Amino acid sequence: MFINRTILILKIMKRTFFIAAVVLFLVSIGFAGFKCGNPEINSSKSGAAESAARNYQTYCAGCHGENLEKFSAKKWMDEKDNSGVEKSIKYGNEQIGMPAFAKTFSDSEIAALASFVKKGIPGDKSLLKPAVIPGGIVESEVQDFVVDTVVTGLDVPWGLAFLPNGDLLISERSGKLYRFANDKLSAPIDGLPDIMAKGQGGLLDLCLHPDYANNGWIYMSYSALNTKSVKATGNTAIMRARLSGNKLIEQQVIFKGKPYTDRGHHFGSKLAFDKNGHLFFGIGDRGQHFDFPQKLDNDNGKIHRINDDGTIPKDNPFVKTKGAMPSIYSYGHRNSQGTCINPLTGELWVSEHGPRGGDELNLVEPGKNYGWPVICYGINYDGTILTERTEKEGMEQPVYYWNPSIAPCGMTFLTDDRYRKWNNNLFIGSLRFEYLERIVLNKHTVMHTEKLLQGIGRVRNVVVSPDGLIYVAIENPGKIVRLIPIESNETKK
Ligand code: HEC
Repeated sequence: MFINRTILILKIMKRTFFIAAVVLFLVSIGFAGFKCGNPEINSSKSGAAESAARNYQTYCAGCHGENLEKFSAKKWMDEKDNSGVEKSIKYGNEQIGMPAFAKTFSDSEIAALASFVKKGIPGDKSLLKPAVIPGGIVESEVQDFVVDTVVTGLDVPWGLAFLPNGDLLISERSGKLYRFANDKLSAPIDGLPDIMAKGQGGLLDLCLHPDYANNGWIYMSYSALNTKSVKATGNTAIMRARLSGNKLIEQQVIFKGKPYTDRGHHFGSKLAFDKNGHLFFGIGDRGQHFDFPQKLDNDNGKIHRINDDGTIPKDNPFVKTKGAMPSIYSYGHRNSQGTCINPLTGELWVSEHGPRGGDELNLVEPGKNYGWPVICYGINYDGTILTERTEKEGMEQPVYYWNPSIAPCGMTFLTDDRYRKWNNNLFIGSLRFEYLERIVLNKHTVMHTEKLLQGIGRVRNVVVSPDGLIYVAIENPGKIVRLIPIESNETKK
């Protein structure tokens, strides 16, 4: 089911190259020794080697692997000089899917890259896999890329969280949690809480504690089912747990939104940690906009801030307000399904599903009122007027709103130069129009938007992997693709 097309090619290649691989293995031991023990490397040479390593990670690793493990074993690997490799990098080879880099690098940069690649190929060549073959280069306004399908066979994937070793945790709204490792999806992970998987509810977002490497905490948001009620009622809750093999252990429910209702929509919920260890998430208005978002005595229609163990930060804006829920950070929200921190500024950004024509992008600040349902740019889905007002004293304006509504979901800032021209842009999935929106911001103003991956399917989430690539989760059929940047187009520099 989870066919990685490279495996097929690999099988054919494996047989052909098995004998060669044994020989090459012996040769490579010599190589490795040479690399470590070479006393001749002087400082200027090692500077060039360092920038070659950087260039490799930025321009090549997406297709050839971070550890140079994705190259088809071929004779250039054993050639005495590097001229063949240099030629391949400079002029590419369209037929085999290798782009040309003549316009990206100078000859000396190409020479440094060629020797970096040749020396860095893993010793045991039987472990090599072929490079990712572009299914077609996608051209966009400023950045070309290739769409590589990583995971298939899913249903409605929601949360994505990369473990430090590169394994990917994937939550499915239906109430399943998987680990994707070595090109395979695990059996469902045991130990999840009681989940109300109904309508928009289910197992929702995932994120790791900022200090996961030391404490192993995984956070998940979900529609908690009230097991004491005869009727299925519930609300958004947050659990943390540790992963042991294929099981969650030491589960702690650290937050339960109140009140529970039997409504199956507007659970909000994307999770984001800031650098001080505060956890942010939204809960939607649960479909009762006149009851909840403007009142502080309940958790619905709010953005919340809690500590990593569920306790309340002492400086939360409403801790001293009588009758207010102390976890509230901001209020007057409809249904926020994108929550993220700009890693450069520390600001909290939230995308929200509005009514017809009123989806919003908000910059969220403590204690502020974002106006729902008193002010809004949208109308009811049946065409009736919801409110005449778009502004009011004491209520915040969105940074941006979408008309028509795109149904914005997961979003992320890209702050890595892996996609040079997209650096510092914001990416938001559109469920309704089935594309990925790229937003160019100048501080708090949207300067430009571009639709990427149009028609790919309902985009549920977008995250950046530890190695800087954009991963996109798509619904029905559920799959996860990643965008591999191609940097060979002079006109787009
Ligand atoms: C879009 C994907 C992609 C990118 C980006 C890419 N390559 Fe390739 N490259 C390929 C494919 C596909 C092949 C052929 C199959 C294989 O070697 O596994 C290939 C082949 C090669 C070869 C062997 C050429 C030959 O004639 O057999 C070298 C050397 C190489 N790439 C180096 C690089 C370097 C260095 C970079 C970064 C500057 C790079 N590649 C970037 C996809 C890519």
